[in-house]
Amino acid sequence: MTLPKVIGATAASVISQAFVGEQRAVQAGKRMHFDTEMSENNRMFLRRSIHRLEKGLVSKPRRDSFAGDFIERTVKTAASYLQAQDDRDEPELQWFKDVLDMYFRETSNSGDPRVIAARQRWLSLTVSLASSSPEIEKSHPFIQSELSNASEKYTALREIARHRRSIRQFETKPVPRNLIEQAVEIGLTAPSACNRQSLRVIAVDDPALRVAISKVPMGTAGFAEQIPTICVVVGQLRGYEHERDRHAIYVDGGLFVTGFILGLEGLGLNSCCINWPDLEQKEAAMKKLVSLDDDERIIMLVAVGYGLPNQLVPRSRKRSTGMVVGWQ
Ligand SMILES: Cc1cc2nc3c(=O)[nH]c(=O)nc-3n(C[C@H](O)[C@H](O)[C@H](O)COP(=O)(O)O)c2cc1C
Repeated sequence: MTLPKVIGATAASVISQAFVGEQRAVQAGKRMHFDTEMSENNRMFLRRSIHRLEKGLVSKPRRDSFAGDFIERTVKTAASYLQAQDDRDEPELQWFKDVLDMYFRETSNSGDPRVIAARQRWLSLTVSLASSSPEIEKSHPFIQSELSNASEKYTALREIARHRRSIRQFETKPVPRNLIEQAVEIGLTAPSACNRQSLRVIAVDDPALRVAISKVPMGTAGFAEQIPTICVVVGQLRGYEHERDRHAIYVDGGLFVTGFILGLEGLGLNSCCINWPDLEQKEAAMKKLVSLDDDERIIMLVAVGYGLPNQLVPRSRKRSTGMVVGWQ
């Protein structure tokens, strides 16, 4: 029997240098997670906490008291964010506020001293957010109406999904920035681990920079020069405090991109996902072109533009459903 090569190899070769960059980024993310928490303004901790509160609020049967182990920290962090002057995401803040209001209403019978202390602190805050937004009902758990004409919508979605192909030849016509943002909006509807959405998109349409960026990965040979807008999808490990969650940015990033490219297709644009090779020299090359923090990992790039008419496109036939789905 042939033994796998790894048996008998030295520890140094088992722990390959190829993982060093990832390890460094995971540690940087952990550090940033706790550093920002010290500054009491940790958005990712808050997004996760508010998500956990919503889950508690919708659970059946709902307990009279829950979240005692993290509610004080949540209120403390929310208070700091509510008072922040810069970098405010108002709809996000509204969601935090509404969920906390609902939580304290629904746990009014709780005898847990941690919940009582947190409620006192919450009520004492002079929160200046407008509460008359028409969106207010949507900012905490709500009763969702049925999707109207669902089968028609399925058909439209299937049409968009089946029409999409990776396109590698583009017209020189620029892509309006608002269309990229509209497609990002679809991408952002994706589920994500505890609704953190710990990612960002660097969209580049500057002629010199977009070509330089497009040339960095390996899979753009022959078309890097003609990509009108290149989007770098970046996962931020600062959203996580545990190494065990280090892959969540790739899962969330992939789900985001799925919505993003379908959104682009629905807007009459074409796209091609571009693989990001996890290599030190590639990362160094990219860092010369865009600013990336220590915890930020590139998930992939997405080339966007208007495809040249009448070009040949790979069929890229998909696997048959029956080959993929198995029932047990
Ligand atoms: C993560 C990922 C990385 C990819 N990398 C490249 C790439 O580097 N260069 C390229 O030309 N296409 C790339 N593609 C596009 C695939 O080749 C393409 O999605 C696949 O062949 C199926 O074709 P379709 O997208 O037209 O359905 C990538 C796609 C994904 C999802």
